[in-house]
Amino acid sequence: MEIASKILYNRICIACLLIDTNQQHGEVAEIAQIISFVSGKGGVGKSSLSSAVACALADHGKKVLLADMDIGLKSLETLFGIGDSVVYNWGDILADRCTLPAAIHHTRGVDLLPAPLRPDGALKPDRFRRMLADCAPQYDFILLDAPSGLGDNIELSVCAATAAVIVATPDRISADAAGECARELAGRAVPTVRLAVNRFSARDVRRGYALNLDEMIDLCAARLIGVVPEDSDFSRCACNGLPFAHTQAFQAAGRIAGRILGEEIPLKHLEKFGNN
Ligand SMILES: Nc1ncnc2c1ncn2[C@@H]1O[C@H](COP(=O)(O)OP(=O)(O)OP(=O)(O)O)[C@@H](O)[C@H]1O
Ligand SMILES: [Mg+2]
Repeated sequence: MEIASKILYNRICIACLLIDTNQQHGEVAEIAQIISFVSGKGGVGKSSLSSAVACALADHGKKVLLADMDIGLKSLETLFGIGDSVVYNWGDILADRCTLPAAIHHTRGVDLLPAPLRPDGALKPDRFRRMLADCAPQYDFILLDAPSGLGDNIELSVCAATAAVIVATPDRISADAAGECARELAGRAVPTVRLAVNRFSARDVRRGYALNLDEMIDLCAARLIGVVPEDSDFSRCACNGLPFAHTQAFQAAGRIAGRILGEEIPLKHLEKFGNN
């Protein structure tokens, strides 16, 4: 296992999301790649990273739809500071109460689709897949910010995903949950699965407070797509709906976006990440 993880770790520079366009999940990905940001454990940074990666892909000139899948929590509305202006959400589209353009918010180069306010009988995988099929021709990427947890919690978020990024923080509970998540995604036949380690601090690894990247990869059993540092400025901006493009965490999200686009981007300062 350790040798396998070393090989995976050493292959970070080619750990991009090379998605075979013929390998489509749920048969809805006519054009867009549909990438779900998932985790077993809550509060690990799915909303923060999916937002940052969406903005970074938009900065690369890509057309990006970012859907909030966390029913009732409005995380992305807060993150993008658009809460007051939201009228419709994707639940309204599924229930035929509005059209796609009416529900979309154009913000920081991204098309944001807010989450329904409460669970509803109309929120079914077949309808959701149909909605994504209607959206797919207009986008390069559709990113889905999943709720935490497994099973029914992530059914809608992964039913059409061509890829998933498991977000985990470098602690045993989060890593074990990420491993469970990877097993569930395999069971659901999500074609491509990658790991993003968030809130990483080499200092904490050296002190023995946090797991190192090899341990994370071993426990999650997925290839690494990026490492995002602990960054209180990013958190301050995200929690207050402020732009975060200047932060270190956003730079790291930008490297994840580059790898999604197929660029070979090595880990920055590999030796400082606590694995030696
Ligand atoms: N790299 C980071 N550095 C510092 N704080 C971070 C970082 N990433 C996320 N956070 C903070 O962690 C908290 C949880 O982040 P976020 O809401 O993105 O997690 P989540 O996985 O979407 O949570 P949930 O499971 O509830 O949907 C927020 O306060 C956020 O600002
Ligand atoms: Mg969230």
